[in-house]
Amino acid sequence: MNEDRTMAGREIRFGNDEIIVSKTDIKGHITYANRVFCRVASYCESELLGKPHNIIRHPDMPRCVFKFLWDTIQSGNEVFAYVINATKYGDFYWVFAHVTPTFNDAGSIIGYHSSRRVPDRSVVSKIKGLYKMLLAEERKHRNPKEQWRASLPKLIDFLQEQGKTYEELIFSLHKGAENAATAGQRAPGQSGKTSQVCA
Ligand SMILES: Cc1cc2nc3c(=O)[nH]c(=O)nc-3n(C[C@H](O)[C@H](O)[C@H](O)COP(=O)(O)O)c2cc1C
Repeated sequence: MNEDRTMAGREIRFGNDEIIVSKTDIKGHITYANRVFCRVASYCESELLGKPHNIIRHPDMPRCVFKFLWDTIQSGNEVFAYVINATKYGDFYWVFAHVTPTFNDAGSIIGYHSSRRVPDRSVVSKIKGLYKMLLAEERKHRNPKEQWRASLPKLIDFLQEQGKTYEELIFSLHKGAENAATAGQRAPGQSGKTSQVCA
């Protein structure tokens, strides 16, 4: 994904009863994408399988949030995050994501799983301000590693001022916290194989 690209695009919405699901290997290469993922992101399954998950990275997403996400899941924990993603055609969509590691019988991580629901609009409007501040810090640097190294302390400072972890912040902003608790569950009818056909 081109790091310097700026996107305007249209916002794509999906249904309250829908879940955007993907699975990856331990390196973050997509091994599964459900029908809703393909439809919302405008990719067919064959365009996604085997690709790094940053195929849908949006330039308005701060790198430090992904650093935090990866550190959390690689240590065997789940993470909830608000993420803006890019579609194939330069449009965008916000999601409330729940990302979890998948373990084998021996307890080793063998991949990751993300389930994304419709975000709470009031959280989106608040989180945009935080992400904008983090991005402004990142844009002072060219190198991706320097970018997250510069913005991560800002994120940590912000959370300390609030007296919350990132997850606590998200849930405190969230009106429907009771719905969020089920964000990792798959809704009936969402588990079928992708059937979108490439043009
Ligand atoms: C299960 C899983 C789901 C992910 N979902 C997304 C996603 O929806 N959008 C996204 O931009 N990155 C997602 N990522 C993170 C990407 O792997 C990547 O770290 C991120 O896009 C930043 O790209 P970069 O590492 O090239 O800067 C996901 C990673 C995993 C393991």
